[in-house]
Amino acid sequence: MKTEILKMLRESEGYLSGQQLCEQLGVSRTAVWKTIGQLKEEGYQIQAVRNKGYRLVQGADVITRAELVSSLDSAWAGSNLVYYDRTDSTNTRARQLAEQGAPHGTLVVADSQTAGKGRRGRHWEAPDGTGIWMTLILRPEFEPQRASMLTLVTALAVSDAIRSLTGLEAVIKWPNDIVCGGKKVVGILTEMSTEAEWIRYVIVGIGINVNMDGFPGELGKTATSLKLELGRGVKRSPLVAAVMNAFEKYYALFETAGDLSGLVDTYNLWSANTGRQVRVLDPAGEYQGEALGIDSQGALLVKCSEGEVKSVISGEVSV
Ligand code: BTN
Repeated sequence: MKTEILKMLRESEGYLSGQQLCEQLGVSRTAVWKTIGQLKEEGYQIQAVRNKGYRLVQGADVITRAELVSSLDSAWAGSNLVYYDRTDSTNTRARQLAEQGAPHGTLVVADSQTAGKGRRGRHWEAPDGTGIWMTLILRPEFEPQRASMLTLVTALAVSDAIRSLTGLEAVIKWPNDIVCGGKKVVGILTEMSTEAEWIRYVIVGIGINVNMDGFPGELGKTATSLKLELGRGVKRSPLVAAVMNAFEKYYALFETAGDLSGLVDTYNLWSANTGRQVRVLDPAGEYQGEALGIDSQGALLVKCSEGEVKSVISGEVSV
């Protein structure tokens, strides 16, 4: 019932009477009153005025199942939601759920992670109540070689959502880090399970630093949060919803083309690398060149000093 009440309060222009809530939900006034009380305890500011009813003054930045379900309005991404107050890693949970048959579009969200996973086996710092830690389960019907493109689709979706919700210039550092003011604000970890020539599932883990006031030690030199960049806090649940909507938009373009051709221009527009000098940390030897942007397969095209254009498929580049 919390979810429904939150949704109705959010969608109502002014006050919503207790009577309207009771009738629409088919419950007693006491039940409505109790649920409003619970929401207040969770941090929502709900004004109750005699003869008028209830009004949501300000939505608190809580991430709960009810908050998320009442915020999400995407067609399929996130329509099956699995929520944890605290878990080890949403990627680990998502893998387990996918093994148990969780459907395409299942979204696993946690308010805190105790063993967040980063790329290359690194630990991902995921403190309580300040970030978005979530993993989307996908069951795409294409061959495993294309799965890495999903990471770029995700980076585009997350950067788009951050830009439209906060106005910050969130740009993508190829292939999938999102940076604001030169520091990392989002990390994406894509994992896959395959069998013979087909994908069983792909899980896309997304970590967004939202409301941290600072980062410990060395991390502070490279990491930032939306709050630090904006100078004010950001509500997390509308951002989760915006990411899911943007993901659906870009995923549809990707699915139709079977590659990134429909997304190349937008990706390159928001890529921090395009037109800049990059150093490619190739295991066969480092080299430098000008990044020209990505191609339809997601490779970064780098023009070396001799004029040769190299295609970087994997690995890291530094700006
Ligand atoms: C990176 O190293 O840049 C990738 C970090 C990915 C972190 C996210 S947080 C949600 C999801 N669960 C995890 O354990 N990792 C990803």
